[in-house]
Amino acid sequence: PVPMWLDCDTGHDDAFALLLAVHAPAVSLLGLSTVHGNASLDDTTYNTCAILQAIRCELSRIEVYPGASKPLCRDAVAAADIHGESGLDGTTWLPRPIVRAAVGITAVDAMYTAIMKERPQTVWLVATGALTNIALLFAVHPDLVNHIKGLSIMGGAIGGGFTDAPMGKIGGEGERFGNWTPFAEFNIYCDPEAAASIFSNADLAEKTTLIPLDLTHQFLATASIRNMLLHGHRRKDTTNSVEINKPSRVRRLFQEILVYFAQTYKDVFGLVEGPPLHDPLAVAAAFAPNVFDDLDGERFSVSVVTDGQHVSQGHPESQTNQCGRTVITKLDHGKPGVRIPRAVAADVVW
Ligand code: BDR
Ligand code: CA
Repeated sequence: PVPMWLDCDTGHDDAFALLLAVHAPAVSLLGLSTVHGNASLDDTTYNTCAILQAIRCELSRIEVYPGASKPLCRDAVAAADIHGESGLDGTTWLPRPIVRAAVGITAVDAMYTAIMKERPQTVWLVATGALTNIALLFAVHPDLVNHIKGLSIMGGAIGGGFTDAPMGKIGGEGERFGNWTPFAEFNIYCDPEAAASIFSNADLAEKTTLIPLDLTHQFLATASIRNMLLHGHRRKDTTNSVEINKPSRVRRLFQEILVYFAQTYKDVFGLVEGPPLHDPLAVAAAFAPNVFDDLDGERFSVSVVTDGQHVSQGHPESQTNQCGRTVITKLDHGKPGVRIPRAVAADVVW
């Protein structure tokens, strides 16, 4: 299995990333760290512990290390209109966690120690929240770049920014291609300086896979997917009717997570088909790269706009504020750079 460390800000889609990272047979999860983002660090840490409990990992050795409570040099942002005040609103089946976050060691130290114990060029680091912890990790331990196999990030929005064959616009109308501002995706907007430091590190960028909104909007949790998650694949064998009629607690929890997420995506973005389930794709990219298509190995340079307005609540809708925008340039064939797949085989991932 692929050794993996997951850094998350557990909200609705991070919960699915956790489920996948913990239970995919192809993954060996080394540990978890939490970061500010969808809600406060205390809330994202609580949510992470509660989801671990729900998916029956309370007895496992997977530890949760709280990381940064705010961006490198700004105030924290939160996505209450998408994930609720707790970061995981709408979850009546969420258990109160017995699992407790680790104390006495920082997330950066825990990550470094765990990753360095593994063989070189084997570990994947996956980030599904603001990039503060990841930026700090590589600032404190630059040698880690050579040791990891890859860094998979859910973040960014490309829209028409590709110099050729644009992926197309997501959500909304007009020129909007971000989800927090018309230009910026939430994880990158949360801590643009952290993101910028990662993409400007050429050795690290070469090992990075970016999963932007353009891709995650190909992975919608439609009503039929939500139904499948609740009831499982219906089998012809009617002896399974008990399971079909009475979904487990885990199924009910993950179903209500999607129902809440679907409602906020409908309310905020008018997306009726179903919410894009962003974060599990970053996990999948680490252990199943072939479910993504990156058009014959194309690679990109990524820069992040750090100028502009950075507000901590709500969706700043200015048409000119480009803070947190990911600006993408396609590199000549064969040149090293960031991998940004163009397409995902959504049915395979489900
Ligand atoms: C990202 O922002 C968060 O709200 C989600 O959990 C996801 O990581 C999508 O822009
Ligand atoms: Ca997230």
